[in-house]
Amino acid sequence: MDKHKTIFDTTLRDGEQTPGVSLTNEQKLKIALQLDKLGVDVIEAGFPVSSEGEKQNVRAIANEGLSLDICGLARVLTKDLDACIDCNVDMIHTFISTSDIQRIHTIKKSREEVLSMAVNAVDYIKDHGAKCMFSAMDATRTDLDYLIEVYKAVEEAGCDIINVPDTVGVMSPSSMYELIKSINNEINIPIDVHCHNDFGIAVGNSLMAAEAGASQIQVTVNGIGERAGNANLAEVVMCLHSIYGAKTNIKTEYLLETAKMVENYTGIHMPANTPIVGDNAFAHESGIHTHGVLEKSDTFEPGIMTPEMVGHKRRIVLGKHAGKHAVKKSLEDMGIETNEEQLDEILARIKDIANRGKRICDADLRAVTSAVLGKN
Ligand code: KIV
Ligand code: ZN
Repeated sequence: MDKHKTIFDTTLRDGEQTPGVSLTNEQKLKIALQLDKLGVDVIEAGFPVSSEGEKQNVRAIANEGLSLDICGLARVLTKDLDACIDCNVDMIHTFISTSDIQRIHTIKKSREEVLSMAVNAVDYIKDHGAKCMFSAMDATRTDLDYLIEVYKAVEEAGCDIINVPDTVGVMSPSSMYELIKSINNEINIPIDVHCHNDFGIAVGNSLMAAEAGASQIQVTVNGIGERAGNANLAEVVMCLHSIYGAKTNIKTEYLLETAKMVENYTGIHMPANTPIVGDNAFAHESGIHTHGVLEKSDTFEPGIMTPEMVGHKRRIVLGKHAGKHAVKKSLEDMGIETNEEQLDEILARIKDIANRGKRICDADLRAVTSAVLGKN
């Protein structure tokens, strides 16, 4: 895999298309500032033609002087492109359906018409001095020869980067690899991928696209987006860094705070077992695991990814699977010393409480410990 990949975040556009999510302009600006702090390369700030409010918001973000590039989304229609140009964005992401199913049933255009509309849009964007990304919507269900013909035509027209959207998330990691390889063999401009998560493999598909030569990956914070969402930013970035040895500009220590901000603003809650940024991502309960981790953290953690790397904390959880080492460590953290006999008794009482289906919190541990120490 190439050593460096750029990250294009579409939380504010595809992410906001999550059913039930609507962000205020203030929240969108705060998310944009956070993504800048995180080190994202490009953000898709919105779809300016969709409403006057959206347009004002994209313009406000574009005028904020952030270090990342601001992109606006536009169909290949002049009114959409003009709305982006009015917002003063750095990049315009223009798209049109290329698959037969979408072309025939939604836009009702012939293949020739689609190709010429795409080329005209790219010409228009370049005449207005913005960077241009072109998406063949539903690329992964488009006839490959025609898809390559369209990408070649937009490259010829001066497009800066092409996007390959897996619009309805139907690719497998190996088919994504093959598709990106085939496109890469024919096209000389950079390739970006946009994978949807309908089968839960958007991250895997994005990584295989990156292996096949895509240099930019589209993501959203917490994987939010249309239907089952998009590839998850934290997961894509940490896999690239820790598993593939690739680099991005992401300052991974801000991943958790970014995820929490978006969780808060969108109301889309992350399950505790969410990789990397979930509450349990670095939590240990069973006696065997906590004993190992307290001795050396890599025994039951990946090691190539630590909680500190992603702004998280390791947590030892007391529950019915807890062991002596976990209880001892929790008590030490509270500044409490016990002898072996007391520790055994505290552990027994903790397990007893947990076996009755209760979660153990610090107050429970303190109460149990006081009772045991008072008794002895
Ligand atoms: O999923 C998709 O195809 C999109 C396009 C606008 C790129 O979101
Ligand atoms: Zn999408």
